[in-house]
Amino acid sequence: MLPTWRQTVPIVLGLFVAAAPLADAGRSRPEIAPGYERSPYLQSLGENSVVVAWIASARGTPWVDYGTTPAYGQTVEAERDGARRHVKLTGLYPGTTYFYRVRAGDRVLAEGGEYRFRTDEGPTDREFSFFVTGDIGTKKGKQVLTSASILRADPRPELGILCGDIVYTKGRSSDYDERLMYPWRDLFSNITVWPALGNHDWESSPKKNWEHEWHLPNNEHYYSFDYGNAHFVALDTQDGKIYDRKRQVRWLEDDLARHSAAGWTFVYFHHPGITCTYKHNNDAVIDHFLPVLDRFDVDVAFSGHAHAYERLYPITSGRIVDREQDPDYVDPEGTIYIVSGAGGKVKDNKPTRRCGPNAFFLDETILWTHVAVSGATCTIRTYASQDDRLVDEVTITKSHLERLASP
Ligand SMILES: [Fe+2]
Repeated sequence: MLPTWRQTVPIVLGLFVAAAPLADAGRSRPEIAPGYERSPYLQSLGENSVVVAWIASARGTPWVDYGTTPAYGQTVEAERDGARRHVKLTGLYPGTTYFYRVRAGDRVLAEGGEYRFRTDEGPTDREFSFFVTGDIGTKKGKQVLTSASILRADPRPELGILCGDIVYTKGRSSDYDERLMYPWRDLFSNITVWPALGNHDWESSPKKNWEHEWHLPNNEHYYSFDYGNAHFVALDTQDGKIYDRKRQVRWLEDDLARHSAAGWTFVYFHHPGITCTYKHNNDAVIDHFLPVLDRFDVDVAFSGHAHAYERLYPITSGRIVDREQDPDYVDPEGTIYIVSGAGGKVKDNKPTRRCGPNAFFLDETILWTHVAVSGATCTIRTYASQDDRLVDEVTITKSHLERLASP
């Protein structure tokens, strides 16, 4: 029988010490150990299932051991696609922490306390948090600041949404390890991320790159999922003109109609519609997405593209509403639009201007956004990745959720 991770931690730690230090993340394609190219990352986490993926050319059957204690107890064989491995663990209990490890035959590739996940508790869960960032995987290595800051956060986000431009400069599979998977491996092993495509991710065929890297629902371009009492929708703005526009917009309308009972609705896509940053307004987003978000009372829409942070006043039908409540909104009539597009990249010397709709903005700072849902209130805080400094804080309270909670 194989030992549990508590017994083998020293061996595994030794393995990681031998790997390249974080500072080298941007220099060349990292190697974790011979035959073990990419640490496990979690995908498509739900109430009863999760996908575990990794890359290992090491000989031996790819196994995942998992269970609710570090002794695991269950084992499944993963599928192989060249050196890529992935497996969907099913039949899991909701709201439950699981430990896992991956193997090539008897050789343990990854195990220890960081290799764990907690399944979604389901729609009765009204207390959870997630992170948002975009424009991440550059050669320069700044994305490490963001993952380290996210991992220091309290409460630690339970999932993450990524607003596009995930891997620069062309979204190539061959750049994923160096620019994203390696520098973010400590996060990916225990926090499930749900990425959206940006224009840079579109610079290489998504079919041959994006769709190999990720295991996402629907067509992997636009999709939705639930977590706690929230509904999340990822959209694909492609190069700014909206991918598969007619079908995508129709799908968005159907999806939001089907999930109108969700406590919270968060939508994210790469190109902001209205923005006062150095990026221009995007008419396709304004014309085709924003009216749908208005109609279905989406709470917050997140974007990237501008390597900056920008938060607008609530907007509906193109006009600002409830401005006087800023920054603590109760039942805002419009959607709040936030650009959090500086997860690994900043823009120098192109300052954002106050142009009417923006309530707050900050340039030239690597940062990320933390969203905490707690009962009837959602608190959105943005932090500078370098020193965890609080940059912006806004709250949204929805009184009908307060009523729902009272006995
Ligand atoms: Fe972009």
